[in-house]
Amino acid sequence: MVKGFKAKGLEFTSELPSNLPPVKADSDRAIQVLTNLLANALRYTPAPGAVKLKLRATSHAVEFCVTDSCIGLNSDQQSRVFKRFYRADKSHSRALGGSGIGLTIARVLLEAMDGRLDVTSPGLGLGATFSFTLPLS
Ligand SMILES: Nc1ncnc2c1ncn2[C@@H]1O[C@H](COP(=O)(O)OP(=O)(O)O)[C@@H](O)[C@H]1O
Ligand SMILES: [Mg+2]
Repeated sequence: MVKGFKAKGLEFTSELPSNLPPVKADSDRAIQVLTNLLANALRYTPAPGAVKLKLRATSHAVEFCVTDSCIGLNSDQQSRVFKRFYRADKSHSRALGGSGIGLTIARVLLEAMDGRLDVTSPGLGLGATFSFTLPLS
């Protein structure tokens, strides 16, 4: 996947603290969700651009943030991206091959692990951050 970013002309960076506390999670499912978010960032961020993965501990969880420099999502799109089959830019997303269920599944998987998945975007043209939490064990 990291190779894919480079091949597309995206800079990939990560911030992974070494002293994170252990989380309670199904590791296969957690990796599935993270892979999904990175694949979306790769797909929906135009080159030249940047994608960053950042992990941090909060008082009761570890938070995983995938930030990209995509066109961004307005508040209406932010509230809808987790709905089944929703694609923010239909023609563009279809051309890129998305089916619109990845984030729906990711959110269900996280909720089953007592985690959560959210999106924030500072505004159109300013990128987006998809972040999820997993509870501390
Ligand atoms: N990192 C991202 N940056 C911008 N838009 C995104 C990003 N991830 C998802 N989206 C938007 O949310 C929609 C839903 O995502 P998803 O459920 O993964 O479906 P798919 O990737 O199959 O289209 C996408 O079609 C896209 O419009
Ligand atoms: Mg997807």
